[in-house]
Amino acid sequence: MNLVKWIDFQSLGDKRGSLVAVEIGMDKAVPFDIKRIYYIYRTMESVSRGYHAHKNLKQVAICVAGRCRMVLDDGKKRVEVWLDSPTKGLLIEDMVWREMHDFSEDCVLLVLASEHYDESDYIRNYERFRREVLK
Ligand code: TYD
Repeated sequence: MNLVKWIDFQSLGDKRGSLVAVEIGMDKAVPFDIKRIYYIYRTMESVSRGYHAHKNLKQVAICVAGRCRMVLDDGKKRVEVWLDSPTKGLLIEDMVWREMHDFSEDCVLLVLASEHYDESDYIRNYERFRREVLK
């Protein structure tokens, strides 16, 4: 499985500045209906977040300001990427362990989610995640 799936958004900027439109649906950038949007901002220095996977949730993470480092793990391999562009979305599929590190002070991480919030969808224990994803 290719863990790192980028979605490139077109920047509709002009001389006034930049604008990105995120559209969903067939042939559009985001391959699921968005049921929830949240954003992570004003993250304290040296704080890491995430440390979980989802049984049934797809997400697209877009760093609309600043940057952070995202670690993705499918139980077999671990990769890391920098989210540092408002025109790049990272698609995170079901059953992918994610961690977020090294948030810049100005980081605003926008997340588009395919499902409503459901704590029972989280797997927050790495060993349990590995057991489930590799079985
Ligand atoms: P969590 O998903 O653990 O954050 P992160 O992945 O960034 O480490 O969520 C932190 C808290 O916020 C947790 O108590 C659940 C709550 N929360 C919601 O109520 N709704 C949401 O949509 C999200 C993402 C989190």
